[in-house]
Amino acid sequence: APIPVAEAIRNSNLDEMREQVVACAACGLCKGRRNAVFGHGGQPTRWLVVGEAPGEQEDRQGQPFVGRSGQLLDAMLSAVSMSRERDVFITNVIKCRPPGNRNPKPEEIAACSPYLMRQIALLKPERILVLGRFAAQTLLGTDATIGSLRGRIHHLKTDEGRQIPVVVSYHPAYLLRSPGEKARAWQDLKLAARMD
Ligand code: URA
Repeated sequence: APIPVAEAIRNSNLDEMREQVVACAACGLCKGRRNAVFGHGGQPTRWLVVGEAPGEQEDRQGQPFVGRSGQLLDAMLSAVSMSRERDVFITNVIKCRPPGNRNPKPEEIAACSPYLMRQIALLKPERILVLGRFAAQTLLGTDATIGSLRGRIHHLKTDEGRQIPVVVSYHPAYLLRSPGEKARAWQDLKLAARMD
């Protein structure tokens, strides 16, 4: 029987885990992917940015947030003087593209989320910016809406007992459809930046 992800990556460093993600077959999404998307960024990591799952461009290029949502994310980050190259590590809850960008299924989340938890443990980000309802609900273990989760600071308890501040905001893809909410997203980014 295949070894569960959590066990296989228990002692992996980031480079090892990247290879494990690229070769991962822990759920059915591996069948439809062109590229798994591990994430991108340097260390030390000031902010870990967590989106939902790779879209079409991300699946093609193997990099997170490289399509239209990614352009908006870069603009959001630069509004608070954060740069993709210097300050943040960007990843997703789900590392492989769901067909047609459908929402990930519970069994896919269960299979994949150990990677995110291990990324958090290894990167030790100063804070986590969670984009969109899906990622927020997964990371915070809630079914509350973005409207009720955004605008305040949450905490994620790590396995080592550290508390990492978490700020939730709208997903850039949602903001592209609902530009009227951008002002609120900017407030969320400022909230995250003020904590420095
Ligand atoms: N949307 C996401 O949630 N993640 C990406 O990497 C790209 C688009």
